[in-house]
Amino acid sequence: MDPKSISSSWGLSNKILIGMSVGVVVAGGAGYLIYRHLHRDLMPEKWRRVGTLQKIHIFPVKSCAPLPVASDQEYDCDILGIGIGNVRDRKFMIITNNNEMITARGYPHMLLIQPKQLPNGLVFSAPGMPDLELDFKELVTLSEAVHTSIFGVTVDAMVCGTRFDKWFSKFILKKDSGLKLVYYPYPVPVRATSPELKHMPFLRQEDSGTFNDATSYMMMNQSSIDDLNTRLKRPVDAQQFRGNFDLKMDVDEPYAEDHWQWIRIGDETVFRVVAPCTRCILPNINVNTAERDVDGEPLKTLRSYRLFDYPSPALGIHLGIRRQGIIKANDVVYVEAK
Ligand SMILES: *[C@@H]1O[C@H](CO)[C@@H](O)[C@H](O)[C@H]1NC(C)=O
Repeated sequence: MDPKSISSSWGLSNKILIGMSVGVVVAGGAGYLIYRHLHRDLMPEKWRRVGTLQKIHIFPVKSCAPLPVASDQEYDCDILGIGIGNVRDRKFMIITNNNEMITARGYPHMLLIQPKQLPNGLVFSAPGMPDLELDFKELVTLSEAVHTSIFGVTVDAMVCGTRFDKWFSKFILKKDSGLKLVYYPYPVPVRATSPELKHMPFLRQEDSGTFNDATSYMMMNQSSIDDLNTRLKRPVDAQQFRGNFDLKMDVDEPYAEDHWQWIRIGDETVFRVVAPCTRCILPNINVNTAERDVDGEPLKTLRSYRLFDYPSPALGIHLGIRRQGIIKANDVVYVEAK
């Protein structure tokens, strides 16, 4: 049977058939556009206040101490992450001579390395070590690239130089070599999305930031930390969770983190909530003493009430920036109004 006879046996003329298939294509196309429209991730027009930004943290070197800053300091938030001028969050990290990332999970005393801002660079200090200055101009002239990775996701980095490798090896390994300080050389996030978060529908590749574990921004909720602390023998500090933003809610809304989609800080800066933050053992390390908690806290307690369907307990939210801006401590925090 040829197609013509099929159509005639169905009593349909070719014209109607063509008309129908055009119709199917048009309806399909329109359906697709409507689908796209409904699923377009629109920034809300109306916002409601939920609290204030209690504290802001920048960690220039992954796994080291945050930058100490005055409370009225302004920070700019862009696609790479939070920063003050050219000092940006997690733009540096420490790797072994085999180009493997190391963190305070394996070397807790890394948390005692204190970076401070200089007009065009950083100065590092650590117990028992002379101060070490890094001028950003020096980095431009150096060009050795290394291939490394962060939790299985590859990324290239540039070495800072032997002067830095020596200092960091000395403090972390008590040896003259073994480690390298590297920096993130790109103006945009280049790393692929972390495989663990790939299924998160609103997460974009460019949310991967610099040398962050998974995304360029993370918010902690001080009310949740306060609640956690009522369950612990030894209270923990929000800083132990290494978020960039500590939110102080006006009024606790139970499980608000499960429902919020958008967060605005101050007038300009807008973030999409892209994933919950599931926790590794890092929060068990006291940031002041760099000692691991003997009872495995707070992770043990967190597991008892924040595990949900994840392999590790969730606390804090991963954010992707959707509108750049300047923020400072005590800015009002808004979420989408229903
Ligand atoms: C903040 O913590 C409080 C108390 O645990 C909780 O009710 C609220 O849902 C949390 N909000 C967010 C956004 O995490």
